[in-house]
Amino acid sequence: MKILFIASEVAPFAKTGGLADVAGSLPVALKRLGHDVRIILPMYKTVGEGTFPIHKGRKSVEVRLGETLHKGFLRQTTYADMPVYLLENRHFFQRDHLYGSPEGDYPDNHQRFAFFCRGVLNLLKRMDFRPDLLHCHDWQTALVPVLLRYEYRQDPFFMNMATLFTIHNLAYQGLFPKTALAEMGLDWSYFTIDRLEFYNQVNLMKGGIMAADLVTTVSPSYCKEILSADQGCGLEGVLAERGDDLFGVLNGLDTDEWDPATDRQLFKTYTSATLAGKVVNKKGLQKRLGLDVAPDIPLVGMVTRLASQKGIDLLAEILPRLAGEKVQFVLLGAGDETYHRLFEDFTAHGFGNISLNIGYDSVCARQIYAGSDIFLMPSQYEPCGLGQLIALRYGAVPVVRKTGGLADTVFDGRDGAREPNGFTFDDFTADALWEAVQRALQSYRTRDVWKKLVRRGMNRDYSWQQSAGDYERLYRAALTRKRI
Ligand code: ADP
Ligand code: GLC
Repeated sequence: MKILFIASEVAPFAKTGGLADVAGSLPVALKRLGHDVRIILPMYKTVGEGTFPIHKGRKSVEVRLGETLHKGFLRQTTYADMPVYLLENRHFFQRDHLYGSPEGDYPDNHQRFAFFCRGVLNLLKRMDFRPDLLHCHDWQTALVPVLLRYEYRQDPFFMNMATLFTIHNLAYQGLFPKTALAEMGLDWSYFTIDRLEFYNQVNLMKGGIMAADLVTTVSPSYCKEILSADQGCGLEGVLAERGDDLFGVLNGLDTDEWDPATDRQLFKTYTSATLAGKVVNKKGLQKRLGLDVAPDIPLVGMVTRLASQKGIDLLAEILPRLAGEKVQFVLLGAGDETYHRLFEDFTAHGFGNISLNIGYDSVCARQIYAGSDIFLMPSQYEPCGLGQLIALRYGAVPVVRKTGGLADTVFDGRDGAREPNGFTFDDFTADALWEAVQRALQSYRTRDVWKKLVRRGMNRDYSWQQSAGDYERLYRAALTRKRI
């Protein structure tokens, strides 16, 4: 099959979160199954041209948005032996961030991604690659299935092309006032209840869900949760309408990219058989962050976007308690300005066992996964979560709230169904989180029980193997279920 991945972030080119990990690693797994897979993303300023030789193509494309005609250029590079295309437009993508600064989103995001979606479709005819299936991700690419269904499929070139739309996070919907429609180059025929209209606004995520041939989300539990009013973010009715075409497929990891046995950013590589190497990483991390170098103090880590989704408010509540315990706590995170300020204020109190680091730093992130004994993810909701998978693979035992993909991957053994690999809690409260942290700390003190838990986590298979097969089957189904 010929498959084109269309995404707004793809590791290692541009990343703010797990979507990039998925869009950079699932294609590699599909390629191993024998498919011709390629990727396209916007050519952001932050895409490291130094690291990847990116060829300037001759191919260009024009997209009209309202009054203005915008020109895009196709650039190309290779990753994992796979062609990666980048759509360049300096006005839209030559900016410091992908979607906005910590103060807020860029006000023209609807135009930036409308340009990207139509640009990609227009380019397809000019490329020497005619995909059977377009795999789109989140609201930024949701217009692709919409435009394909209502405009492009009238052209024989596109007639047999199928779409699969993956929801990575239902809370980010691409919601805009109806004036955005014209600015995106769309006429009023798109402002209907079965297309983009949503309570008198434009909702791009809704459009993608309604128009795609098949819809997936990134874990089985989240797939069920989003059908409820509680977690459906207002789209539960729309999702129910697509119920027969909606599937939950658990994300995998690129297990070559995330491997403590070969990770060159670590202070020392290690495996589940050579756990002493993990202690070297703990000491290295303690030193790097100015904490006491003490191998026996439990080190609790967190690497996260600073958004309310991630349970940062619960964390803020338990920070003073952590400050009074015989533990060390390390956080690396970037996101909402209010959390940046909150943590800066807390740091000003100078608790010697707490290190709160604001910023995005992929090397430090790896050192935290490797150096931590315990990894926290107290998420309010979590479509899948890759943090806990990386933590498990690096031997940091996860403490997570039992929701979405966290509930599908972390088990505390209390229900007897699965062997334990971490600690879970149910209620979204600071006390429930604190109680789970206490359970983990208690267990940490029983050394051989703990080592067993660490090893069990490290030895499980987190690869894409199973899920890539699931996607392959869904792609075939999408090809036979095209919506017209
Ligand atoms: P989400 O996509 O919702 O942010 P995931 O757990 O799926 O959550 O993925 C987060 C990914 O982003 C992981 O690879 C994690 O290591 C990385 N990450 C998050 N915050 C940072 C940060 N501040 N610095 C470096 N990497 C980060
Ligand atoms: C989103 C979700 C996260 C998921 C990631 C990749 O960012 O918040 O849970 O792991 O997408 O699918």
